[in-house]
Amino acid sequence: MDKFVIYGGKPLKGEIEISGSKNAALPIMVATLLSPGKYIINNVPRLRDVRTMAHLLRIIGAKIEFENHTLVIDTTQADFPEAPYELVKTMRASIYVLGPLLARFKQARVSLPGGCAWGPRPVDLHIKGMQSLGARLDLDGGYIVARGTKLTGTHIYFDVSSVGATGNVMMAAVLADGTTTLENAATEPEIIDLGNFLISMGARIEGLGSKIIQIEGVPGLHPSDYTVIPDRIETGTFLVGGLISAGNINLKKCQPRHVMKILEKMKEAGATISVSENEIHLSSEKGIQPVNVTTDVYPGFPTDMQAQWIALMSIARGSSVVTDNIFQDRFTHVPELNRLGAQIVQKNNSVFITGVKKLNGAPVMSTDLRASASLVLAALAAQGKSDVLRVYHIDRGYETIEIKLQKLGADIVREDSGEVTS
Ligand code: UD1
Repeated sequence: MDKFVIYGGKPLKGEIEISGSKNAALPIMVATLLSPGKYIINNVPRLRDVRTMAHLLRIIGAKIEFENHTLVIDTTQADFPEAPYELVKTMRASIYVLGPLLARFKQARVSLPGGCAWGPRPVDLHIKGMQSLGARLDLDGGYIVARGTKLTGTHIYFDVSSVGATGNVMMAAVLADGTTTLENAATEPEIIDLGNFLISMGARIEGLGSKIIQIEGVPGLHPSDYTVIPDRIETGTFLVGGLISAGNINLKKCQPRHVMKILEKMKEAGATISVSENEIHLSSEKGIQPVNVTTDVYPGFPTDMQAQWIALMSIARGSSVVTDNIFQDRFTHVPELNRLGAQIVQKNNSVFITGVKKLNGAPVMSTDLRASASLVLAALAAQGKSDVLRVYHIDRGYETIEIKLQKLGADIVREDSGEVTS
């Protein structure tokens, strides 16, 4: 297994390009199952999760080529509507195939994801949504076995705003008979991007970006070419990297309007920010001020930036509180940050951070993507050497993060840790 060896204390300086959005690319890849044919998807990040999704689509029967950042997906021969446990357990987003498989093949067999590194993450809203559309779902041997001779448009109210359930049900509803209304739908940019891709395939969808989405079912869709939006979480992670290292960075090919809340908080924390259409410039002359954050659905502060924010606040000039209202148990980074010298106490879904003057390098590891990213950020600010172990978690969601950080002047290298997977 690989690790990162980081010597902290160097300010990040220079410019890099932000990659395409992981959480938009994954459902868009899956949506190609809805209509047989050849699709060209641009600006796809080269990530482990994207390769896992490509593997799953190949099992279903798609042909896939991945050159640079362009995916060519041919779903003409897709004929095996199943997502096996071995893949779903490594990537929960695999559950996205349920909607498109039901819509196209009238049946699907998709493994339940089970728990993950930060607690139970249910899929009840996905299941209820498919049932509301008229599908019959049974649980058999850890699998959701779905049949739906005909899906019919309906009104669905989501008790909780869910990115995954909104995307999944939207993909099932585009080919249903009649109109489906999704209430308390997710408004995240990745759902808008998925919706826009479906519209480019001939779907009729209104209300994207609002809490009520209306989908008028159509008898058929057609393949289309598409370009994925930039990754707002990668953008936010590098912005924190700029401030935590007292740096001066320019992020190109990003989408500033998708990170407004993060920018607002960065400014409160002492960053000087300027934006143009697709670029964000950050400099930091004022040190890091303590800023409380509570995660919320978009356009609130994203839960996927919670860990990175805690790393930043660990060296702020004062105390702060970070509360995660989306996922209650997503704090595996806290004890590791404390090993670097941070002073953080967790109570339920909040952490109380007393900023310290400096962090000190240490070996650290995490079992979660964003938590691992927060450890890299903290190591960049820490004095001396840190080993961040098990970076395959970071490789799930950040494209060559060490190369981008090296370009910004960080002292970071990837090495074999000698650790073997158990
Ligand atoms: C997606 C993102 C993930 C991000 C999360 C919240 C992808 C691949 N992943 O995950 O990075 O952290 O949105 O922005 O896009 N819930 C239920 N029942 C369900 C589904 C969800 O109760 O059936 C709850 C969850 O426990 C959570 C909340 O809804 O409390 C939001 O989760 P959701 O938006 O569904 O997250 P994901 O789509 O899994």
